[in-house]
Amino acid sequence: MIFTVAIDGPAAAGKGTIGRAVAARFGFAHLDTGLLYRAVGAKGGDPVLAARGLVPADLARDDLRTLVAGQAASRVAAIPEVRAALVDFQRRFARAKGGAVLDGRDIGTVICPEAEVKLYVTASAEVRAHRRWLEVGGDVSVVLAEVKERDARDMGRTDAPLRPAIDAVMIDTSAMSVDEAVAQAVALVAAKL
Ligand code: C5P
Repeated sequence: MIFTVAIDGPAAAGKGTIGRAVAARFGFAHLDTGLLYRAVGAKGGDPVLAARGLVPADLARDDLRTLVAGQAASRVAAIPEVRAALVDFQRRFARAKGGAVLDGRDIGTVICPEAEVKLYVTASAEVRAHRRWLEVGGDVSVVLAEVKERDARDMGRTDAPLRPAIDAVMIDTSAMSVDEAVAQAVALVAAKL
């Protein structure tokens, strides 16, 4: 079976949590596409060459989850040649047999416009900053500024800006528990299977 679930949305909205849970529930493969851009940003050097030469070991670095790595990712993600170098891998993953869930910023709009299910997972900047702060600690106002800066860069870039696909279903997780958000996503996928 070929079946793609595309999940887009801003940082710390719950895309990853929902993506992992949906994949586990239906036995689909899951790809956190943000990790690709984080790995490119963390490699240093020429980001276009880094994207073209990305290997699985690059995705296993344990410094990819930091705020600094997120900012570096969003800078290299604005370079069209970097994005172009990562398209084929993501599309192959999306259409592999057995079903796939991909989460990122442009999955429903650019990578998989034909996805069977498209979700746009969002939450207020304050709620997202608080969630990120629980993970990384430090000063919550610095985390909020980082979240807003990354939103602005991801939504404002020319190539594949973050926005909901026209036919995406919105899930605002600001006032939802993880279980509620997952249940909503699972129900939407089950209805299309
Ligand atoms: O989702 P995550 O926070 O790991 O993504 C890091 C950065 O990678 C994002 O801020 C965004 O700039 C970029 N990204 C992207 N397209 C994707 C996934 C991530 O541009 N599909």
